[in-house]
Amino acid sequence: MKLHGSLNIKGNDLFIGNIKVVDIAKKFNTPCYVMDENLIRENINRFKNSIGNENKVVYAGKTFLNTHMVKILKEENICLDVVSDGELYIAHSSGFNMEKIVFHGNNKSYDEIKMGVQLKVGRFVCDSIEELEILENVSKEFNRKSKVFIRVNLGIDAHTHEYIKTSCIDSKFGISKDIDKISNILFKYRNSCNIEIVGFHCHIGSQIFSKEAFIDEVDEMFKLINDIKVIDKNFEINELNLGGGFGIYYTKDDTPVTIEEYVECIVDRVNYNCSKFNFNVPKLYIEPGRSIVGNAGMTIYEIGNIKEIEGIRNYVSVDGGMTDNIRTALYGSDYECLISNKACEEKSYKATISGKCCESGDVLIRDAFISKPERGDILAIFSTGAYCHSMSSNYNKLRKPPIVFFYNDNLKLVTKRESFEDLIRLDV
Ligand code: LLP
Repeated sequence: MKLHGSLNIKGNDLFIGNIKVVDIAKKFNTPCYVMDENLIRENINRFKNSIGNENKVVYAGKTFLNTHMVKILKEENICLDVVSDGELYIAHSSGFNMEKIVFHGNNKSYDEIKMGVQLKVGRFVCDSIEELEILENVSKEFNRKSKVFIRVNLGIDAHTHEYIKTSCIDSKFGISKDIDKISNILFKYRNSCNIEIVGFHCHIGSQIFSKEAFIDEVDEMFKLINDIKVIDKNFEINELNLGGGFGIYYTKDDTPVTIEEYVECIVDRVNYNCSKFNFNVPKLYIEPGRSIVGNAGMTIYEIGNIKEIEGIRNYVSVDGGMTDNIRTALYGSDYECLISNKACEEKSYKATISGKCCESGDVLIRDAFISKPERGDILAIFSTGAYCHSMSSNYNKLRKPPIVFFYNDNLKLVTKRESFEDLIRLDV
């Protein structure tokens, strides 16, 4: 088991910094998301330092986003990838600089495009010819010249979960690697007053450990650029957005390399290709999400019902579940956990950590080894900072948990627990 960032054990208790996790449970109740802001800022700075000032780190907002997270991004001076009008709204209402927004989405609506143009977002990532046409018209209406990455699908098969690979041929994302089609797009918009194509974008998937997959991505991208240059000598690539996807540690089966190694491998390969083809080095963008916040989050729960089925399984149920973390049910993800008030006790009790939803698949961890559990114990599940809060739901009308941030030895509530009134707020 790995304790990330500010997590530590003193005596028989789990702490974050100097704060006992059971005290967090007492103060904010359970379930509760706890985020380690020191680790988030450290990860951001590791990306910034390794990619260099001339390039851009774009945090993928879909991973975890609330007003406080936007404040951190602002203070750390990095860009933000949004994928809907809702994410754009959160960024804008939190005073984020719109020039630093990269607006994604494989099916942006007319209204979303209009909102992006009106708010003057820095870059659009366009997934289709139709989207470019709409964007050109809307930009004309508002007298803007919108800057665009064309999202291309390079046909890379990153070895990750079926649902989170995005660049194999059979994918809804991006324009397929068809030289004629892409050259025509570039030609069509070359002299446009309302669209400036700054470069290409590609994202090959998520939770990827293999550096080779990123190397393939860069090589395929440069092959594409070179093929286009053969047809169109005037084509210059100024910017290249290579997406995110850097894998992290959830359990001992995961073997990520460091942030620095992921970035170095990409930057080196870009430089290698630029000298091979004799191209100017473009400005690079990368879009990490999970690798910034994943290990910085933990969810704390209170253990309730314990059902021991002799010779079959021990179900240890907690007061949350697939509503606050759907990843196990959806992808068969795995996590490490600890009973925070029994941190040093022998962990030989084999348990299926299940939630409280009316659904057999409502499991958080299969086959966890924990100390002998009792009703009222506080269980911490680690590395839940990415794609848990952002994919949470109100199934069974459970109220979404609060989010507290730990920073420089202080705890701060940044998102409240939903109230009963919230559950009927929108009903008319
Ligand atoms: N850029 C683009 C265009 C993306 O689609 C994504 C993630 C990222 C960047 C950030 O990827 P990351 O660095 O976080 O791997 N819900 C799934 C993950 C879906 C990823 C969606 N796109 C999960 O819980 O594992």
